[in-house]
Amino acid sequence: MIVPGSTAQSLAAALAAETNDSLAVPETTRFADGEFKVRVDSEDDVAVVVCSTVSSESHIELLQLQEIASRFAEEVVTVLPYMGYARQDEAFAEGEPVSARAVAQAISTGTDRVLTVTSHETYVRDFFDVPCEVVDGAPLLADPLPEDLTEPLFLAPDEGATDLAGTVRDAYGTGETDYFQKSRDRTTGAVELHPSETDASDRDVVVTDDIIATGSTMSKAVEHLGADGVGRVFAVCVHPMLADSARTKLAASGVESVFGTDTIERSVTTVSVAPAIAAAL
Ligand code: R5P
Repeated sequence: MIVPGSTAQSLAAALAAETNDSLAVPETTRFADGEFKVRVDSEDDVAVVVCSTVSSESHIELLQLQEIASRFAEEVVTVLPYMGYARQDEAFAEGEPVSARAVAQAISTGTDRVLTVTSHETYVRDFFDVPCEVVDGAPLLADPLPEDLTEPLFLAPDEGATDLAGTVRDAYGTGETDYFQKSRDRTTGAVELHPSETDASDRDVVVTDDIIATGSTMSKAVEHLGADGVGRVFAVCVHPMLADSARTKLAASGVESVFGTDTIERSVTTVSVAPAIAAAL
């Protein structure tokens, strides 16, 4: 049985269709103090809990779903299409937590194994106390791109996303890859990008990242490219978080289209990771 969290309803339904499993329909009740409880009426030997932890509240929802599942099922598999707090994968300053480890340890208590999709760093799987597999969502990002890209350049907005850009290029079948140098002010969050040496004029560019969060990184990259007289610019990411005014920043930067997967359900979601997750279950 697939047990969906409220943050991954479409993906959970697509997964149930892929695997021919039944789909639970959880109900949520909220208390006057803001706390809530979920209820799932179900019986099955295996429960696959699917929940993107896009907020602190969705972490609590996931823990509740796991706790229910562990009482009716013999095996609980937890699918984290998007794992929140995964980018805080080290203590960046004295006295700060490794938040990714903290949430991974909590999630491990209610499950036999974990699947997640394209984490910021693959080593995040080592933070879990149960087996964790990272499914690669990047190849899917080639699907929504037009077939007629002109001399395509797959550009990573920072060096860390270079492999991701290469994966999308390989899935697309043709093109070059390159990356910007990026620095971020840790206090203000302001992003500085230093353009690559590659001549992108008159070429179509696909800026490729694991996540668009505030949109600062992606919109800065697109703005730089606009100044360089490129052709069309597409922004693709596995996790389209699109927090705050990210969508507006991207539109203002001159991007032609934004594409993402359904690890986070947004208007730019154009491809589903359900088949890839089903294959890994
Ligand atoms: C950072 O290294 C990530 O790969 C993304 O580039 C970053 O998290 C995107 O964040 P934002 O959209 O807030 O700039």
